[in-house]
Amino acid sequence: MHTAVIPAAGLGTRFLPATKAVPKELMPIFDTPALQLVMDEAIGAGCDHIVVVSNKAKSGIEAYLVPSPDVVKRVRDSGRTELADRLSLIGTDVKITVAYQDEPRGLGHAVACARKAVGNESFAVLLPDELMGDASLLTQMWKMHDAGGKHVVGLKQVPMSEVSAYGCVSTTGVPDKDGVVTVTGVVEKPAINEAPSDLILIGRYVLGADMFDMLDTLAPAKGGEILLTDALLMAATAGNLLGVVSEIERHDTGTPMGWLQAVIEIALKRKDVGAELSTWLEGRFK
Ligand code: G1P
Repeated sequence: MHTAVIPAAGLGTRFLPATKAVPKELMPIFDTPALQLVMDEAIGAGCDHIVVVSNKAKSGIEAYLVPSPDVVKRVRDSGRTELADRLSLIGTDVKITVAYQDEPRGLGHAVACARKAVGNESFAVLLPDELMGDASLLTQMWKMHDAGGKHVVGLKQVPMSEVSAYGCVSTTGVPDKDGVVTVTGVVEKPAINEAPSDLILIGRYVLGADMFDMLDTLAPAKGGEILLTDALLMAATAGNLLGVVSEIERHDTGTPMGWLQAVIEIALKRKDVGAELSTWLEGRFK
């Protein structure tokens, strides 16, 4: 099986009061939860098992993951055939497992909570704050992992003013024609003057099962959290980490403003509603 882990146990503090009742991962991107869009990406990259790491206070996540032929039918009847096709895969063609992280102890800890569900296999991690235009990056990363056995991270070049909000990497040499680089170091949310480059982690990872052992050895970082970035640093130090510098379309929905911009940009690209939204926006700003 090709397994994808989607960490979705966060408390969504930035989105209060909405997240009092609605998990952040279910906030709609126009009409479809971000969680669905990242599951679609994982499935598009060949994953047939999705492990969602939730927390017991977020019962909406489990409710969303229950296969529902009735919902599929109603979406289909409303004319959204392509969406209905995607929804119909959940729980039938694609196995869904929910794992739990009951304390907010960091992304590394959340991934470790998926260990039993993943088993002794390689796995992808997709952070649902980050939405990609398609499954091409994750597909490429799986191919690289399958071919060479190294851990692989998705990277993007951003303005230096943005690096402090992300994991940031150092690399050797320049990316090859496919964007591939060897990653030599990783640092979580560096100060701008300490950032090793303008290449950031964009929340897509394909990791070997030994990553779980590395996570187990980690002490909490400064803020008390177990960081996935620290396990990646161990892999980088051992010469086992590759990156893909990607030009893929990407939206960071981690803040309310990022989320709103993502909703508008993604809706503008949709065939069914883009033209209408565009006309309205143009009229609004005349
Ligand atoms: C997490 C990771 C960070 C990565 C980012 C991508 O940070 O820790 O390395 O660059 O996701 O969105 P968070 O956004 O959870 O603070």
